[in-house]
Amino acid sequence: MEAREAVPFFFGVRMEFKRLRGFKDITSDEAQRFLRIEEAARAVFERFGYEEIRTPLLEPKDLFTRAIGGETDIVQKEMYEFEDRSNERVALRPEGTASIVRAFIENDFDKTHGLAKFFYMGPMFRSERPQAGRLRQFHQVGVELIGTANPLSDAEVIHCLDVFLREAGVQNGWEIRVNNLGTFQERAGYKAKLSEFLASKVSKLCADCQKRYHTNVLRILDCKNDACREVARRAPVVSESLGAESQAHFQDVLGALRSLVWMTPIKEDPYMVRGLDYYTKTVFEIVHEGLGAQDALAAGGRYDSLVESFGGPKIGAVGFAAGVERMASLIHLKPDNDKLRSDTVFIATLGQEARKRGFSLLSNLRENHQIRAIADFDSGSLKSQLRAAIKNGARWAIIIGDDELKKGKEGTGVFQLKDLSVERGIQEEYELHDAPNVLNKKTKIVENV
Ligand code: HAM
Repeated sequence: MEAREAVPFFFGVRMEFKRLRGFKDITSDEAQRFLRIEEAARAVFERFGYEEIRTPLLEPKDLFTRAIGGETDIVQKEMYEFEDRSNERVALRPEGTASIVRAFIENDFDKTHGLAKFFYMGPMFRSERPQAGRLRQFHQVGVELIGTANPLSDAEVIHCLDVFLREAGVQNGWEIRVNNLGTFQERAGYKAKLSEFLASKVSKLCADCQKRYHTNVLRILDCKNDACREVARRAPVVSESLGAESQAHFQDVLGALRSLVWMTPIKEDPYMVRGLDYYTKTVFEIVHEGLGAQDALAAGGRYDSLVESFGGPKIGAVGFAAGVERMASLIHLKPDNDKLRSDTVFIATLGQEARKRGFSLLSNLRENHQIRAIADFDSGSLKSQLRAAIKNGARWAIIIGDDELKKGKEGTGVFQLKDLSVERGIQEEYELHDAPNVLNKKTKIVENV
């Protein structure tokens, strides 16, 4: 058994705490991957004309019930909802789209923005059964394009997602699946047809789908159970129930996407449905072969009725959200021994006076020279300080001892500079007052090793 760290000891009561199930600390490499995803998101979405929006984590519960649908799994089983101190029924957001539509209407963005293009990133909460790739607090990066029903905007959003995954460094192996769910009216007709087809087969379905037959029949098409899949494979497809306008819209989306010959090819999936009810016409999902059972990397679609149903203008909208943890698991950082950062210097000191000078140099480099500088005030020997430098990813170490302080042309002190990326690397000696110049060159010339 590993020795345990002592926990704080207040008034004689020892208490240990653990994370909640399905909640996670994001540290080290994963934090680096998150950063990379966020940087790619900002760069790509900016290029596509989106601006950032940050909405509250807590919203009125009914916002989600209305948008996502009262019979969906998210609303029925997964929302963290409670009564707050003023007896209002609130919920931690399970997704971003509903909040952004609310914000769009509440802030009159249709008057100020014309076409509103927002991107967002942040935590979402769903009380699902935790398993690999499925968390209760997870993160999404997404975009919402509000104010157009044009099929080219569906294509733009799907293309944007493809570019984003590539620029974030997600390893190859994703597939873009698209389907057309038509309008609510058309879908109602399809649901009736599907129910009729399934009526004589309900007993063959899994227990969940037997319930879904009465509450949310479309989701039966989405069930992973083999018996349900077998039944669903023979069911009528939604496209047969759609009118000419919806069909033409979808053909235009497919045509626009296929004209972008350099992007990942799209695949039509006539049985794809979504777990949120607000979608109309185009829906899409990105799955990745590198993910396990939870293989959805991102998903989205058009939602032409949502803005109006929240009291806003009658305008179309389309968007997507990608799962950040799932993306991060598919990003390979450089291997461990390549992790030293060329932009980082560690200041190692030996002796009282040297420690004071080292502290002042550290502060000077950070504030006046924009150099990433770190130190470990508690490490004793030079060896342990250099070990700390490597652990913290610094490629460069400055070494100052009390002896060095007496040397130099005018007795103003020198320092040794060591390149920690090279084993037994030679040390170079420089005048202490030259440290900012020397480090400016060293840290800025070479890219990260
Ligand atoms: P969604 O399909 O519910 O869509 O979620 C989008 C992505 O979030 C999923 O593909 C998955 O990568 C990730 N995700 C969802 N649940 C979990 C979980 N429990 N643990 C880890 N990752 C998860 C939406 O949320 C829509 N708002 C997307 C959208 C935007 N549609 C239009 N605009």
